Amino acid sequence: MYTESNEKKLDEIISHYPVKRSAILPALYIAQDEHGHVTDDDIRYLAKRLDMRVNEVEEVVTFYSMYSRKPIGKYKLQVCRTLSCMLQGAEQITEHISHKLGCEIGGTTPDGKFTLQEVECLGYCDLAPCLQVNFDYHEKISTESVDQLIDSLK
Ligand code: FES
Repeated sequence: MYTESNEKKLDEIISHYPVKRSAILPALYIAQDEHGHVTDDDIRYLAKRLDMRVNEVEEVVTFYSMYSRKPIGKYKLQVCRTLSCMLQGAEQITEHISHKLGCEIGGTTPDGKFTLQEVECLGYCDLAPCLQVNFDYHEKISTESVDQLIDSLK
């Protein structure tokens, strides 16, 4: 199902937990790393490997915003849309990014480089508004700072 190295990683991760299903979050990262998103086959395969029902794996994938069921860009831009960030202009910044990239919220640029999403609280409310780019966090963002950031990633 996965490359030899990712199969080894999966085996090792599963071995760290007394109950296989507890490995679901890191296992889904492996799936997403392998295929760029979590596929139907990934869900069926991980359900079998982790002694879970297919719908249980699907529920985890759809609950957490860090997993995607469809292909995403190289850089996933996730703007927080919860209260503190909204009060600090997150909505305007999201619209600005959407306009700059020519990409709808929830969409991916035609070159496959950027995906733009709105997500719930990123846990940095005191530093609102916040943006997560893949695994990096950017606090107190502005239209100017996101312009610089996006230009540096192009
Ligand atoms: S409200 Fe945006 S990080 Fe918490």
